[in-house]
Amino acid sequence: MNLPVKRSHWGNRWTFMLATAGSAIGLGNIWKLPYMIGVNGGSAFVLVFILCILLVGIPLMMTEILLGRRAQKNPYNGMQALAAEANVSRSWKYLGGMGMVTGLLILGFYSVIGGWVLSYIYYAAIGTFAGIEGPQSIANFNALLASPVTLLFWHTVFMLLTMGVVARGVNSGLEKANNILIPALFMILLVLLGYSLSEGDMHLAVQFMFNPDFGKITPAVVLTALGHAFFSLSLGMGAVMVYGSYLQRHISIARTTIYIAIADTMLGLLVGLAIYALVFANHLPAAAGPGLIFQTLPIAFGHMPGGHFIGTLFFMLVAFAAWSSSISLVEPAIAWIVENKAMKRTTAALLIGISVWLLGIAVLLSFNEWKEIKIISGLNIFETLDKLTSTILLPLGGLFMAIFAGYFMKKNHSQEELNLHRNGYDLWRFTNNIVAPIAIFAVFLYLFGVMK
Ligand code: PFF
Repeated sequence: MNLPVKRSHWGNRWTFMLATAGSAIGLGNIWKLPYMIGVNGGSAFVLVFILCILLVGIPLMMTEILLGRRAQKNPYNGMQALAAEANVSRSWKYLGGMGMVTGLLILGFYSVIGGWVLSYIYYAAIGTFAGIEGPQSIANFNALLASPVTLLFWHTVFMLLTMGVVARGVNSGLEKANNILIPALFMILLVLLGYSLSEGDMHLAVQFMFNPDFGKITPAVVLTALGHAFFSLSLGMGAVMVYGSYLQRHISIARTTIYIAIADTMLGLLVGLAIYALVFANHLPAAAGPGLIFQTLPIAFGHMPGGHFIGTLFFMLVAFAAWSSSISLVEPAIAWIVENKAMKRTTAALLIGISVWLLGIAVLLSFNEWKEIKIISGLNIFETLDKLTSTILLPLGGLFMAIFAGYFMKKNHSQEELNLHRNGYDLWRFTNNIVAPIAIFAVFLYLFGVMK
């Protein structure tokens, strides 16, 4: 049964933009991108990542917003309604369904890492980083990973924060805070960059990240970079679609998308520079993996003047960024339950919250007790969830959205939503209909061993 639901709308473009930027900017930029650059060969990864954002990320973000705004519903009902409007099979709704599940799977590990960030606010605040050097910083982080109880505590706090806001609904709460928090995050990043510039090895960092080494561009690098473009812009699972459904009609989708993509990519790359300057100056391993920022940044905060305060503030801002992203990971599922199952938001939030919390426990155990448990091709629980969502589910969702918008939706409908001049529209259509699907498809062929 479909209940008529009154949809609230964003106050103006800025609110939408900040909320969507709030979804996009998160652990993906600050925690994940920097370490993936190190693990995947530095500049080769950066180059491919930027290309993926330009050629696939931006067009598909426009696609996802336009689908959401046209549908005015959660992704599941939304795809169903759009399919009805286009007069094609209603099974497109399963695309929305897949996105909701993907979001919950991501949140399963996102909240564990969010917990790491929360714990680092605490460590920064009590002065743990004062005068710290590389080996001690690495040991501290390893001690955190080795303690399931500590991880569980912080994961639980993070889940409570997320579900608490989700239970209260879309217009209240965090969006307003984003107004201040995202600019504040950029500001503090500048402080960090300033420190890295004077104390770190910025020259090596720039070389590592931007001196292209085409020989290092392998299919695996392309696969990971494409997956991360989706992850970083929150694409392919309906989060942006939900936000798009709250966007007022007169606002330009293209311009909004470009601002968000630029802010998101810049932020990630700046964090990367700040971190690698420290990595090289302190002779730390560049390919440290998921612990990278937790091992390197304390060194900076432990030595810079006012580092005690700046470090605490930094991890607080990262936690806020993670928080606003995690909300968008559950919002599609919650919107679906509320709009279809006649269930109260709070009950839905409780139900989903407990399920994801349990999943998170399996994830946090994969850093210690269950480290040796491998799920697929030698990957543990955390790695499996990460790979499955970033490199398969999100691109797959994006591929189908692109195909729907490009080949099934009536052309005048997408034209109406995008409201672009002829050339702009043609450019979107070309990237959405041809470039993005081919890129994603090629990467899948590689993934499934058809192409080597
Ligand atoms: N884009 C977020 C980040 O970079 O941290 C993660 C994310 C949020 C992915 C929401 C997907 C999503 F739907």
